[in-house]
Amino acid sequence: MNNVILNVDTGVDDAYAIILLEKYGIRPDFIVASSGNSNIEDTFRNTEGVIKILNSDVPVYKGAYRPLMRDAYYEFYHGKNGMGCYNFNHVTEEHKNGILKMYDALKKKKYTIISTCPLTSIALMLLMDENIEKNIDKIIVMGGAFHLNPYGDGNIDDAEFNIYYDPEAAKIVFNLSIEEYIIPLDVTMNPDFSIQNADIKKINDTGIVGDFIYKTLKYMVEKHNSFEMHDPIAAMAYFNKNAFKYINGNIYVDDKGVTKIYENKNSNKHVAYSLDKIEYKKNIYGKFFH
Ligand code: RIB
Ligand code: CA
Repeated sequence: MNNVILNVDTGVDDAYAIILLEKYGIRPDFIVASSGNSNIEDTFRNTEGVIKILNSDVPVYKGAYRPLMRDAYYEFYHGKNGMGCYNFNHVTEEHKNGILKMYDALKKKKYTIISTCPLTSIALMLLMDENIEKNIDKIIVMGGAFHLNPYGDGNIDDAEFNIYYDPEAAKIVFNLSIEEYIIPLDVTMNPDFSIQNADIKKINDTGIVGDFIYKTLKYMVEKHNSFEMHDPIAAMAYFNKNAFKYINGNIYVDDKGVTKIYENKNSNKHVAYSLDKIEYKKNIYGKFFH
């Protein structure tokens, strides 16, 4: 395992991805919170709040507060504050610049970047220096809807939200020369991986973390009938990438955020189209539920 930077737009599934990594003892050097599921103030506070309930000391930095070229678009799928009914009311730390932090960190050593949010912050960092990508070992992205199966048809028009929110940023990231693993809706919308109402009474965690999971999951299942573990599944690709099947190819993003892959077996862009159900149960479901 190598050094990890985590970029999130903490909403509920981002929070569960942070909790999952902690369950595996995978400690990001730092986390950058960007806008996406909600505005930057909410996603930054939510990220800090999850770190605090985990008694973690991972530092949280502030990333991009809006897309590169277009207005922010919030769906508030995760509730008005991005965290369902759960209100973190700690006094938020000073807002340290996450884009400069990523750049400075990458100047010193190689990192894997795990992104569970729009790609604005990573794109901004890349545009600071055409050589900085050489210090990125790989990027794992939760994003895209590639229409590779019935699950990959998009969750906002024909696009997936993280890409829809900032297609220009996604074009920059997907055109890098480095290795990338893309975990799209084609995998994460598979009903085999969604959480149902009956799961809520099976939560493993207790104490403040268990209470947080219970309250946020109950809110999301009541609001949306089920809950998709998009971001924990993307995080799983960091420690168990072989549990997925991939198509390699060149990735194209249109101005509406619709993603397509043109197969090229020699490409180092790996778009997942399936995930082994047993590995999911072992690596994710069994970590949260009994
Ligand atoms: O489309 C799902 C993705 O968009 C997830 O990462 C969710 O948290 C939102 O960021
Ligand atoms: Ca997210």
